[in-house]
Amino acid sequence: MSRSTWVRKIHRWASIAFTAAFIFVTVVVLSGQEEPAEWVYLLPLLPLGVLLLTGLYLFVLPFGRRAGRGRGPFAADQHRREGVSAEQ
Ligand code: HEM
Repeated sequence: MSRSTWVRKIHRWASIAFTAAFIFVTVVVLSGQEEPAEWVYLLPLLPLGVLLLTGLYLFVLPFGRRAGRGRGPFAADQHRREGVSAEQ
C-alpha cells in the first residue's frame, strides 16, 4: 500500500477517535458530576493533532512535483478550457 493510502487511512481512523473523544468529554462535562481532571479536556487534542498533520499532507498531495501538466488538482478545468474531451 502506498504512503498516501496509509496517511488517508490514519486520517480516517483519527477522525473516528476525535469524534469519540469529543462526545466522551461532552457527556462527562454535561453529566454535571464532579469536575473532571484537566487531562480529560485535552483528550480530543491528541487525535486532532494527528488529523491536522495527516490532513495537511493530504491537502498538499495533488500539488506535488509529479502532478505535472494536465494531471494536477485543476486538470479538469484545464481540459475544459483547452477543449480536451477525455482524461489524458
Ligand atoms: C485538522 C485539520 C484537517 C485538515 C487539514 C484536513 C484535511 C483533509 C484533506 C485534505 C482530506 C482529503 C480530501 C480529498 O481527498 O478530497 C481530508 C479527508 C477527510 N477528513 Fe480531514 N482534515 C482535517 C480535520 C478533519 C476532522 C476534524 C475530521 C473529522 C472529525 C476529518 C475527517 C476527514 C475524513 C473522514 C476524510 C475522508 C478520508 C478518506 O478518504 O477516507 N478531517 N481531510
